[in-house]
Amino acid sequence: MLSYRHSFHAGSHADVLKHVVEIAILNYLKQKDTPFDYHDTHAGAGFYALSSKEAKKTGEFENGIGRLYQHKLPQGLLSQYVELVRQINPNDKLSLYPGSPQIAELLRRPQDGLQLTELHPTDFALLKKRFADLPRTRVAEIDAYQGLRAMLPPLAKRGLVLIDPSYEVKTEYQTLPEGLLPALKRFATGVYAIWYPVIERRHTEQFLQTLFATINKDCLRLEFCPFSDGHGVGMTGSGMMVFNPPYTLAEEMKPVMALLNKHLSMPGHRPRTLIRFHAAEV
Ligand SMILES: C[S@@+](CC[C@H](N)C(=O)[O-])C[C@H]1O[C@@H](n2cnc3c(N)ncnc32)[C@H](O)[C@@H]1O
Repeated sequence: MLSYRHSFHAGSHADVLKHVVEIAILNYLKQKDTPFDYHDTHAGAGFYALSSKEAKKTGEFENGIGRLYQHKLPQGLLSQYVELVRQINPNDKLSLYPGSPQIAELLRRPQDGLQLTELHPTDFALLKKRFADLPRTRVAEIDAYQGLRAMLPPLAKRGLVLIDPSYEVKTEYQTLPEGLLPALKRFATGVYAIWYPVIERRHTEQFLQTLFATINKDCLRLEFCPFSDGHGVGMTGSGMMVFNPPYTLAEEMKPVMALLNKHLSMPGHRPRTLIRFHAAEV
């Protein structure tokens, strides 16, 4: 039984990084008129109220979107992200937050599709209610990796696959590389963005080594940690591993990382930002 609910974590520093990378990739896909499909393996509820008791309990959004919302940011990817959040907050007061499916819905064009899978019954019901009747949209209450097998390659044959597990089940660190490999074979040209937490640095690096070794394909690693690495203190940061990254992504993320560092770093900590290419072993 899954107990993780994203409503506790919506709008956190990890969501900021993940959703900015999602926007950058969707912007890139929109440079061509031909349609794309957005496939979200762990879609969550899709939309969150920051006034909910879950969001208030952790207050995580206050050190994520909450801080960025207050600032006049220079024009660019990060300001586009904040503008999208503003778009769903009619009174300019920050009270609602878009999940990854909602961000894709805000950015897609009439010709682009959405494929959303989610396993938690409560979040699936919310997701279905909001998205199932939209055009060119498939919403399924199935396991993420079953969804990759059943729904890839997507109709459009181009697109983004976002893989954003809760890592609640520890075997996920093994299941993910094993599930990603056949997906990349079936839909070889897709952009794949995989979110990962930094909780114990050694464990994170081991997971990424397993991922590189299993997939053995060039990729771009993007990481932002607002807290110093720690032991037994919970999540100190997070990252995205992008396979088949748009060639513009690394450059575009440089000013974003500088702004995240400036606005979201925690006082008294040693924050860390990373933009690094990994080449496949030949
Ligand atoms: C981090 S949240 C997703 C947040 C969402 N992608 C966003 O950015 O707004 C992870 C979600 O994965 C769901 N989940 C966990 N294991 C799953 C699985 N094996 N298949 C599908 N969904 C799963 C959880 O119920 C949870 O809603």
